[in-house]
Amino acid sequence: MTQITSQINLDGAYAIITGANRGIGKQISETFQAAGAHVFACTRELNSDFMDWVETQKQSGTGDVTPIQLDLTDDQSLKSAINDIRMVSSKIDILVNSAGVAHGSLFQMTPISDIKTVFDVNFFGQIALSQSVSRLMARNKSGSIINISSSTAHIVDPGTLAYGTSKAALNRATKSMAIELGEMGIRVNAISPGVTNTEMSAQMDDNARSMLIASSVLKKAASPQDIANTAIFLASDLSSHITGQIICVDGGIV
Ligand SMILES: NC(=O)c1ccc[n+]([C@@H]2O[C@H](COP(=O)([O-])OP(=O)(O)OC[C@H]3O[C@@H](n4cnc5c(N)ncnc54)[C@H](OP(=O)(O)O)[C@@H]3O)[C@@H](O)[C@H]2O)c1
Repeated sequence: MTQITSQINLDGAYAIITGANRGIGKQISETFQAAGAHVFACTRELNSDFMDWVETQKQSGTGDVTPIQLDLTDDQSLKSAINDIRMVSSKIDILVNSAGVAHGSLFQMTPISDIKTVFDVNFFGQIALSQSVSRLMARNKSGSIINISSSTAHIVDPGTLAYGTSKAALNRATKSMAIELGEMGIRVNAISPGVTNTEMSAQMDDNARSMLIASSVLKKAASPQDIANTAIFLASDLSSHITGQIICVDGGIV
């Protein structure tokens, strides 16, 4: 897989990335740091595995990494995370909302409480963090917010009510945010991945995963680096005229 970091430089940029301890968020963190960014790597738990990864990254990349504890469902954790970030830099250039939870169950069998739990992370948590961070970005009249959505927002399979609607809401919010924040110099876009090889997709129903992959033109799952390559483009000035867009990185589900 070709990495795009040799063409895109994020030197001096400060980037907040949620879900940085694994999967897509981790790959985006490594990619941005390799391109020179100072990454605020957000995780629910600052455990030894994560801190070992931070130390390895600090030694290998050209940028820097600051670990941040953040549980998106906890208002106090969100406030503390913003304070911790501001102790290092109140200038924030990039926010990647990658943290998310999957959920599968049929419509009639899905408790409302489950739908609320999914929305708490995939929608309300992302919105609350984006509100706080966009206020910091507005001071510099510059910023790029990237929401990690999902093809499930527009491809409707049985059993995807909670997850799919949370991502559809995020797509709609991406456009609302882009319209309101554009005059503050802040661009807002979403990436809509199809099946991507992470722990989340490994937990999908085998049949559903195979059918989704088979429905794509390229007939293969994405790697986390495929998503990170699009994220770094949207984070950089190469995409300076792109906002309010949902970019599908799904192997061509047409
Ligand atoms: N993989 C796919 O096939 C696929 C396809 C389309 C879209 N996506 C989207 O891509 C994003 C990344 O997915 P992934 O595949 O990398 O998933 P993943 O490997 O399951 O990682 C999910 C991340 O979200 C974090 N998270 C969950 N609940 C959180 C909370 N309350 N507060 C803060 N962080 C929380 C997890 O932290 P913990 O480790 O602490 O749980 C983890 O870091 C998600 O938004 C997902 O919906 C994935």
